Amino acid sequence: MTEHLKDELKSFKAGSGWLNMGRWFEDESFWEEFKQILFSEERIKKTPYQVDRFIELLDLKRGDKILDQCSGIGRHSLELARRGYEVTGVDITGKYLKEAREKAENEGLNIEFVQADIRDFKRDNFYDACINFYTSFGYSEDEDENIKAIENVHSSLKPKGKFLLDVMGKEVLDEIYTDEDLWRLDDGYFLEKRKIRDDLDMLESKWKFIKDNGEVKEHKFMYKLYTEEEIRKLLKEVGFEEINIYGDLDGSRYGKQASRLIAVAQKQI
Ligand SMILES: C[S@@+](CC[C@H](N)C(=O)[O-])C[C@H]1O[C@@H](n2cnc3c(N)ncnc32)[C@H](O)[C@@H]1O
Repeated sequence: MTEHLKDELKSFKAGSGWLNMGRWFEDESFWEEFKQILFSEERIKKTPYQVDRFIELLDLKRGDKILDQCSGIGRHSLELARRGYEVTGVDITGKYLKEAREKAENEGLNIEFVQADIRDFKRDNFYDACINFYTSFGYSEDEDENIKAIENVHSSLKPKGKFLLDVMGKEVLDEIYTDEDLWRLDDGYFLEKRKIRDDLDMLESKWKFIKDNGEVKEHKFMYKLYTEEEIRKLLKEVGFEEINIYGDLDGSRYGKQASRLIAVAQKQI
């Protein structure tokens, strides 16, 4: 380990400043600077399998209209469109949308990508299904704002429309939680420091990417943690019924040993 890296690690571990992160998710530089971590090749490769599972769990029919809430660089929107679904991808990050639009155009896919906040975007009784995948929910300290995003899903679904929500469950995190981690990547070191904010029921995380070329990138973010019961209650209160909770996209049971907390819920009227 070089002296430079040792210093960076030391300052990272000693660093404070956990409070007042505000609406961190509106900061485009976070999404841009950590794109390579968030959307690694390994993660992208899982997309076709994930879409297979969406089709099964949401009982999708060819031609169904699908809302991809927080569509990111469009990996699921693109794969769904390739399979004949009519997709709207909604995301707040302009650069991600640009990349998604370019990919769609190159493949001749007709996908609507909208730059909007999921707390605002809705289209009444329009979609057959909606996905919110890969911890794209619960970013706000104000729980009413988080709930607004789910209310918008409910309004946007047709009666009997289904919603798939994928988050990190509190029960699962309890089992695997560590305060910090360090990974060696192809082009540098990646550090993560975590803190549970009991006052807000949120996980705060600090990421630092120390590239071999000397570049250093650091950001903080946080998201709400939910138990199975809390997710059920939230979805019920918004108006969803027939709520099924899984521990993985394979449909396995949720529990401490699960990998994710995946809820599939249906709108009745
Ligand atoms: C972890 S990424 C997941 C992307 C995508 N679902 C996937 O699995 O590839 C989270 C995404 O949420 C978007 N995002 C965060 N807050 C948002 C908001 N309030 N409204 C719309 N998009 C938001 C970010 O721009 C980012 O693309």
